[in-house]
Amino acid sequence: MGNHTCPWWLGYLLISPVRRWLQNPAAILRPYVREGMTVLEPGPGMGFFTLEIARQVGPSGRVVAVDAEPRMIAGLKRRLARAGLLDRTDARLAPQDSMGLNDLRGKVDFTLAFFMVHEMPSASRFFAEAAEAMKPGATLLLVEPPGHVKKERFEAEVQAAADAGLTIVDRPIMRRSYTALLKKSAV
Ligand SMILES: C[S@@+](CC[C@H](N)C(=O)[O-])C[C@H]1O[C@@H](n2cnc3c(N)ncnc32)[C@H](O)[C@@H]1O
Repeated sequence: MGNHTCPWWLGYLLISPVRRWLQNPAAILRPYVREGMTVLEPGPGMGFFTLEIARQVGPSGRVVAVDAEPRMIAGLKRRLARAGLLDRTDARLAPQDSMGLNDLRGKVDFTLAFFMVHEMPSASRFFAEAAEAMKPGATLLLVEPPGHVKKERFEAEVQAAADAGLTIVDRPIMRRSYTALLKKSAV
């Protein structure tokens, strides 16, 4: 798998309000996120989705957002603080070669992997770590951009997820995106 990493300054473009015309975070998240959930968001950038996840999990929920770029995490924390949502969000810098999720084993209800798996050094490693953090029966929404990711590569990511024990249960329709809703078996 490749690693075309998003430059930090693109983080500002990704949070542009104009993007909401194509991808509405509230509508995308609503089918999956409930109050009180623990939600994992790898590669959040500056939080186009994170703030909405934090709103939807409510004060009793928790968001763990893990990014490898310190300036993305700094921007994300600033925006969360301004919105009064920092207390329910754990915005972390990923350690080298991992997402550093050992403390989350079996605790995550929902994972959002939006436009980020193609940036990971290894999709297999990514899905193995995500699957370990997920509760039995939990879901992961995988979304990739067709510009950067060819169809075959997306299907290779889905296969890497299957190897980690995450099976496809849906292909939600989303404009200009490849999508898969993946589920960890309930036992
Ligand atoms: C294209 S951006 C997408 C950001 C956000 N998910 C969105 O849709 O607006 C990809 C993000 O993945 C992060 N990223 C790249 N490699 C990573 C890694 N190894 N671990 C965690 N995050 C990573 C980048 O820093 C960037 O914030």
